[in-house]
Amino acid sequence: MKLKEKLSSLTDKKIGLLATNYYNLETLHGVLGAAQHSGDPIILQLTQSSIDYMGLDSAVALGREGLKQFGVEGWIHLDHGSSVELAQRCLDAGFDSVMIDGSELPFGENMKLTQEVVKRAASYGAHVEAELGFVAKLGQSHAHSGFTQPHEARQFVEETGVDALAISIGTAHGFYKEEPKLQIDLLQAIVAEVQDATFVLHGSSGVPESQLRAAIQNGICKVNLATEIKNIFMKTLQDILTQNEEIDLRKVFPKATNAVTELVKGKLDIVNNR
Ligand code: 13P
Ligand code: ZN
Ligand code: NA
Repeated sequence: MKLKEKLSSLTDKKIGLLATNYYNLETLHGVLGAAQHSGDPIILQLTQSSIDYMGLDSAVALGREGLKQFGVEGWIHLDHGSSVELAQRCLDAGFDSVMIDGSELPFGENMKLTQEVVKRAASYGAHVEAELGFVAKLGQSHAHSGFTQPHEARQFVEETGVDALAISIGTAHGFYKEEPKLQIDLLQAIVAEVQDATFVLHGSSGVPESQLRAAIQNGICKVNLATEIKNIFMKTLQDILTQNEEIDLRKVFPKATNAVTELVKGKLDIVNNR
């Protein structure tokens, strides 16, 4: 099924679709193990740094083969694409979906950039996500966050024809210094104002379960998770390596992969409203 259809069918049921970033074979298999266990679909996301790390074609092949191997329904998505050129390379490499992130640009420029990517993606039948309002990036202060305005969201979606919109309602990338407070009223106002778009929550790591559930019940469908995956993978490896001298990485990595699986199983239960 095309991602767009999947997202709209899930939105109707008030169920979310988890989008997890992967960085290597182990984090990919960790995520897929969880999706296989619960029988849920999943979006596999790559940022430019993960693409640079693995190589574009290798990263895509790993994701596609992994989905087959684990028997999971899934889509490959560019996370936070910063240019038309990168989006184009990903479309050529067979991505199902691309994000063009013009959230730090003025409204009109963000719209123009998004329009260009929507136009290019159309001939590939690919799905497009954009961001309006600003979700603070890793290392940036929350003071940078700018909540999404409902009337702007409406104009943005109408004039770009974008499929999915990442909105700023109180989350930030990475962990939080203080517990986040999602603006559910604002989410409701955006959903009431904007027709024909799927809403995306970035920065889900560190968001308490009750708030994630509330966001999904009120119209968020795609839920992006990255930092908690990196964190549990590396913390588990660190623990193992301080306790033992095993150099056969094929005996060490699976423990970290399993830790990712356990984390993602829990997130899938939340996002799928179980
Ligand atoms: P976290 O790193 O907070 O999970 O955010 C992930 C994200 O938004 C990826 O686009
Ligand atoms: Zn993000
Ligand atoms: Na976060």
